[in-house]
Amino acid sequence: MRRPLRLLVLVSGSGSLLQALLDAQAAGALPVEVVAVGADRAGCAGLERAEAAGVPTFVEAVCAHADRTAWDAALAERVREHTPDLVVTAGFMKILGPATLGSATFLNTHPALLPSFPGAHGVRDALAHGVRVTGSTAHLVDAGVDTGPIIEQRVVEITDEDTQESLHERIKVVEREMLVDVVTAMATGGWRVEGRRCLVG
Ligand code: GRF
Repeated sequence: MRRPLRLLVLVSGSGSLLQALLDAQAAGALPVEVVAVGADRAGCAGLERAEAAGVPTFVEAVCAHADRTAWDAALAERVREHTPDLVVTAGFMKILGPATLGSATFLNTHPALLPSFPGAHGVRDALAHGVRVTGSTAHLVDAGVDTGPIIEQRVVEITDEDTQESLHERIKVVEREMLVDVVTAMATGGWRVEGRRCLVG
């Protein structure tokens, strides 16, 4: 039998995406082992969720290093220590540097339909633009900001009553389901990159 995929998860915030992965793993629905959870800040709820699940954690804060290059090298080393097959950036709010990107394959979910509305404010920007549909995108991480090969996208309709908060909550419901599905597919069938496309299974 194929061994479970070794998954490392990076978080910065509330960690509900991480929780979806932990829950799916605990339910036996996800052929992965979450081997560690890392954060760029101490005390975030995502780390507490990992600890509650008995998963090892680490913190690598930018401010603990002389500069971004030193932080990047330290984070790359942390990632390598756990020999992950795949790293999920689950609400990890830092741009990864070249050393870290070279240490593993990184999967991100973004709360908008890329290539529209990249960056840290995808929900706010979609709402401000007045689009009628938005959603979430699962993609591999490259050196750009939300520019890597797209794996899957799911659509969320915007209503006239939506606020940034209400819309983001609905997107996150879809985003959590998509993340579990994409990681399951990658763990089961593998993946390969062909130009702009990431083919899974
Ligand atoms: C997600 O919408 C993610 O795409 C965005 O931040 C949110 C993370 O939520 N970058 P959580 O911390 O997993 O609850």
